[in-house]
Order: sequence, then C-alpha cells, then structure tokens
Amino acid sequence: MSNKIKVIAIFASSLDGRLGPANVSRFVRISSDADMEHLMRVRDLADAVLMGASTFRHYPKPHAGLERDDFPVHCIMTRRGQLDLSADLFQQKPPLPVIIFSSANAPDHLPEKVNWLSVPELENSDGSGISAILSYLQDQGIKTLLVEGGGQVFRQFLTARAVDELYLTLVPHFIGGETSPRLTGFGSALPQPFPRTTTLDSWSIGDERYFHLAIHYH
Ligand SMILES: NC(=O)c1ccc[n+]([C@@H]2O[C@H](COP(=O)([O-])OP(=O)(O)OC[C@H]3O[C@@H](n4cnc5c(N)ncnc54)[C@H](OP(=O)(O)O)[C@@H]3O)[C@@H](O)[C@H]2O)c1
Repeated sequence: MSNKIKVIAIFASSLDGRLGPANVSRFVRISSDADMEHLMRVRDLADAVLMGASTFRHYPKPHAGLERDDFPVHCIMTRRGQLDLSADLFQQKPPLPVIIFSSANAPDHLPEKVNWLSVPELENSDGSGISAILSYLQDQGIKTLLVEGGGQVFRQFLTARAVDELYLTLVPHFIGGETSPRLTGFGSALPQPFPRTTTLDSWSIGDERYFHLAIHYH
C-alpha cells in the first residue's frame, strides 16, 4: 500500500521470537536498561505511537521519549472496546491526546482529549483497517508513527505492507511457550512474497544484538 506516513516498529524479542511470557497481566520486561533507553530514543522520532489493547492493558501509562518534553499522540486498537478509562494514560494533567481505533461502539463518556474512532474495516483481514488508520493519522498531520506492538498488531501492519522500518532487539534468552506473545502474533502465514529486511544498522550492547532494518515487500 502507499502512504505518506513513515511507519516504524520496535520490539525486543527473545531468540525464539517471543515478546514476553504468557499469562501475565502486567508488562514483563525481557530486555536491559540500555534497550529501554533505546526504545525511548526511538520514541523521540515519532509524532504518534500505536499499540494493541493487550499491550495497553499490560502497560496503561504514557509512553515517554528520552529527550522530548512532550508526549507522542497515543493510539490504541481494540475490537472489544473494553479499555480501562481510569488508567494512568487517561488521567494525565494536562490530558494527553489519545486516539482509539475500534470496530466497537464508543462508551457514553470519554475522558478529555480521547477520540474514539469507529473503523469497521478493522474486521477485514486484508489490511484495509490499517490503511484507514494511516489515512486518518495522515489527515491529522502525523508524519511518523511508531508501532510498539504487540505481535498481533504488528502482523496486521505487515499484512498491509505498511511498516517501513523495524528496530529489533534480540535478547539472549529463550522463552518458549505455546501462548506466549510472538513477534508476528498467531495465525496463517503472511502474504507472499514474504516481507524481507535489509540491515540499515546493527550493533551490540552486552549480549543484546540491536538491528535497525528496512522492510521490503517485493
Ligand atoms: N517485547 C516487546 O517489545 C513487547 C512489545 C509490546 C508488547 N509486548 C508484550 O506482548 C503482549 C501483547 O502482545 P499481543 O500480540 O498479545 O497483543 P497486542 O497486539 O498488543 O494486542 C492485541 C489486541 O489488540 C486489539 N486488536 C488487534 N487487532 C485488532 C483489529 N484489527 N481491530 C481492532 N482491535 C484489534 C485487540 O484488542 P481487544 O482485546 O480489546 O479487542 C487484541 O486483543 C504483552 O504481554 C505485552 O507486554 C512486548
């Protein structure tokens, strides 16, 4: 698909492609302090960050950058629409702008600065929901979107051929587990030709390996 927004994704993954352990209700960090600083530095590049509702439920707080004074616009995707509107993210003073993209109806009352957008295309499996999100964000003046996960959401951005770059930190662990969250979520194979990457940069910190990758779809 063509879009003018630059879309970057960022993940820390175990050597076996897991984003964390299964069956936890809170965010479990699998990478080092250096990787968290790297994440915040990449956030400095983005006007908006986007996450799936599961990632939000695990870390329902503002996603801060490293050197910027403001916060990026926060975007959340949800089908069920059951988000805790009393969570930290929605209780900031001054309130932070949050956009919720959902196929569910909006609740009657929303916190200030929270915009609930109905996107019926999110029920499609052809990537049209992601296209609709990107068109909307582009109309809002967003130039760079950072997809912070999780894997279910990243899979849909790959299916829509919408991710331009990936920052991937490989952490030196195996996590295993049938239901632990995976880098590309669960489900059928991605459409062919499979997305492939070329390396823009790579480096090591301790036993962690950092990649900055360009993603290609042809
Ligand atoms: N290591 C890392 O870098 C990293 C990064 C991010 C997250 N994580 C971890 O990964 C786990 C979460 O990842 P995940 O892959 O399981 O889930 P996820 O992608 O964060 O969120 C999945 C949820 O997003 C919503 N969603 C997905 N597709 C949608 C669509 N087409 N339309 C509307 N809503 C949609 C649904 O929310 P509803 O259920 O509300 O319908 C779905 O349950 C957590 O454990 C988190 O801590 C790790």
